[in-house]
Amino acid sequence: MITRAKRLDKIPPYLFGEIAALKRQAIAEGRDLIDLGIGDPDQPTPAPIIKALNEAAHNPETHRYDETSAGWTPFLEAVTTWAKRRFDVELDPQAEAMLLIGSKEGLSHLAWAYIDPGDISLVPDPAYTVYKINTWMAGGEVHLMPLLEENGFLPDFTAIPSETAKRAKLLWLNYPNNPTGAVAPLSFYKDAVKFAKDYDLLLVNDAAYTEVAYDGYKPCSVLQVEGAKDVSIELHSLSKTFNMTGWRLGFALGNADAIGTLNKMKSNLDSKQFPAISLAGAHALLHVDNTPTLDLYKKRRDILVDGLNALGWNIRKPEASLYIWMRVPEGHTSMSFSRLLLEKAGVLVIPGVGYGQHGEGYIRMSLTVMGDKNGEKMQEAVERLRQHVQI
Ligand SMILES: Cc1ncc(COP(=O)(O)O)c(C=O)c1O
Repeated sequence: MITRAKRLDKIPPYLFGEIAALKRQAIAEGRDLIDLGIGDPDQPTPAPIIKALNEAAHNPETHRYDETSAGWTPFLEAVTTWAKRRFDVELDPQAEAMLLIGSKEGLSHLAWAYIDPGDISLVPDPAYTVYKINTWMAGGEVHLMPLLEENGFLPDFTAIPSETAKRAKLLWLNYPNNPTGAVAPLSFYKDAVKFAKDYDLLLVNDAAYTEVAYDGYKPCSVLQVEGAKDVSIELHSLSKTFNMTGWRLGFALGNADAIGTLNKMKSNLDSKQFPAISLAGAHALLHVDNTPTLDLYKKRRDILVDGLNALGWNIRKPEASLYIWMRVPEGHTSMSFSRLLLEKAGVLVIPGVGYGQHGEGYIRMSLTVMGDKNGEKMQEAVERLRQHVQI
């Protein structure tokens, strides 16, 4: 037998495996599950974006390899125009922006582009697992930055030993945050940029959820900090903003050297996205308003959080992201409580420990629910939890 590369042995066991198995079993038994698990928008991509794809796909120029350096010019110009409009940051579309095949692709390849064996990544915990796993696979070491409730789920840079920070290369951040739903003020990003400059780190800001926010709250970009471009690259995604997870489209903005390095890596791995998709994405960024989707998430958020808090649960209402992050009751682990909700009420949630050791003691509930048109599934989830789960 031909053995696989040892780097694959560094991927930890799938921590959501037990819940996935229970989900399969419940479906096989014909139980009606309300799935608050994966954060994948349930609403369709807005029609004008599909129309733009259709038109672009009729242009035979889009059928060929994309031989540009970092993505078709109309896409790069759209992302920099959008960033100027949204964050008031100036970026050169040819040097400080690039297309990604979804932000996950860019995040993972950044680790491969920067981490040599023995190098350190500073990684938040709990977090989207991509930062950690790709650092490991590239042969690097991970220093975890705990995201604690008492710190608003922001990392404490002063707690990082300076010897570790000196050896580190990448500082990973993600706000609005998956899984905690926390947001970061600009003052936090100022501290982060200063820390990155002090220790000669590349700050990688995962900004997949900046456009998923409620009640008038506008998440900020690290690039709004003066001088951030010297040390930062920020990755955006069209997935959650425009219900386009399956389309695979994102972009990176910021430090030209980091953009060039990621591009060098990627030009030897992929041939970019179907240009028609990027043209549809440009149309989305310039012309499509995601308010109707946000209004639906807000409605679901209010039904779920207000409904459960009325039952004596103690849940913080997130200003942004798709996620409700909730402490499990005394005597439970994140896994045992998730199992209880699934078995007793048919409500599927994600155990926080799946996002890292500091996620233990929490569960994550997503505001994306298949089959929910106007909050009625959320209402049913609350009702089932009221009837079947006492905390
Ligand atoms: C924090 C975070 N970053 C990045 C992504 C990846 O998004 P995409 O690759 O679809 O752009 C996700 C997806 O769930 C996420 O939660």
